[in-house]
Amino acid sequence: MRTEFPESFLFGAATSSYQIEGATHLDGRGASIWDAFCTQPGNIIDASNGDIACDHYHKMATDVALMRELNLQAYRFSIAWPRIQPEGKGNANEQGLAFYDRLIDTLLAHGIAPYCTLYHWDLPLALGEAGGWLNRDTAYRFADYAHIIGQRFGDRIHTFATLNEPRCAAFVGHLEGRHAPGLTCLKSTLVAAHHMMLAHGMGIQALREETPAKLGIVLDLKPYHPIDDHPDNQRAARCGDGIFNHWFADPLFGKGYPEELVAGFGDNMMAFDDADLKTIAQPMDSLGINYYTRSLTRFNDKKPFPHAEEVRNPGAAYSDMGWEIYPDGLTEMLTRFHQRYKVKDYYIAENGGAFPDHRIVDGQVQDNDRTEYMQRHLQALAAAMGKGVPVSAYLAWSLMDNFEWGLGYTKRFGLVHVDYDTLARTPKSSAIWYRNFIAG
Ligand code: BGC
Repeated sequence: MRTEFPESFLFGAATSSYQIEGATHLDGRGASIWDAFCTQPGNIIDASNGDIACDHYHKMATDVALMRELNLQAYRFSIAWPRIQPEGKGNANEQGLAFYDRLIDTLLAHGIAPYCTLYHWDLPLALGEAGGWLNRDTAYRFADYAHIIGQRFGDRIHTFATLNEPRCAAFVGHLEGRHAPGLTCLKSTLVAAHHMMLAHGMGIQALREETPAKLGIVLDLKPYHPIDDHPDNQRAARCGDGIFNHWFADPLFGKGYPEELVAGFGDNMMAFDDADLKTIAQPMDSLGINYYTRSLTRFNDKKPFPHAEEVRNPGAAYSDMGWEIYPDGLTEMLTRFHQRYKVKDYYIAENGGAFPDHRIVDGQVQDNDRTEYMQRHLQALAAAMGKGVPVSAYLAWSLMDNFEWGLGYTKRFGLVHVDYDTLARTPKSSAIWYRNFIAG
């Protein structure tokens, strides 16, 4: 299967700052909205937080050496904004910058291409307290932060992404309330989403001035399939799909906000300045795609627009997240997306499965389910590329088990097992399979 990918294709893995770094109080790092969210009882299923996480902040050098042993050619990480600007504005904190200097230089010394995300949800708490993404000023602060990052690291980064999954940050954080800041208001969600888009646009402009690296954003995609051809189910699936897959992408690619959805949101639709749409639609060089599952959808009038309810597929296999394993959706989304937006280059910024593989037997976790998940998704990726979608890298989620947001440490996505008592890393059988696969 390796031969189905071009020689220049990069295989790697991804993580994010809050999920692995720990050291939340060290070297001048300010607090983030996730630190605060974790202190509220009931928000995190196992009452945990990212204070220690995988302690990657202290174990960075050996973690990168492990990536090298696993033959990884690329590594996607995110920068913790509160390490760089503890209060979300003003001068950069040199100790924070120095950590990412070391990380990037160590990656390069090991021949691993650095993919850097500026924002993977750990907003400085000071900005959160000033309204977070509901405050337009946060977008301007993000542009300042992007200047700092581009200036300092722009000579060594392969690809930058401004934001990770604005859909998830907006909808799960402001409508479902399962992520920081824990709001449950549709109107606020759409305002937050718009300001994130604006931050992205201004962030790209800022980075462009500072760095020759490839620039883009990371979007999560998920097909919505109606359970049957009843018109109500079809419409719920079409609109659910639209919100998930096009609400952000359409304005990013100069198409404005999708009309059917604007009408569906009705009074909840935010007001905005038309000039914003121009700022949002900055040319991009490479788009990151996160893909995990699909949604089998039926209409439910008790739910707000798009009245979409996700139902279980009795014939399908599910991961430990309760997500249907559906590799064909990756081919579908990439080909559909490419037809509509014709992006120059894509990379899979995340793809992977959580499985209940916490037990080490004879020195290893035998996670054949994860290996199979990856194999099938790599096949689906190759199929999309065979249909002409230009994809240049695949980054597995995740390098190691880590803090899975509201689910704490109860879900494991890693290729590498983390023992949270000792913080020992042990490659699972999937990591060994991936290492051999990359070697070809
Ligand atoms: C996020 C990751 C998360 C993963 C699994 C993605 O939405 O970017 O941070 O761990 O999904 O839930």
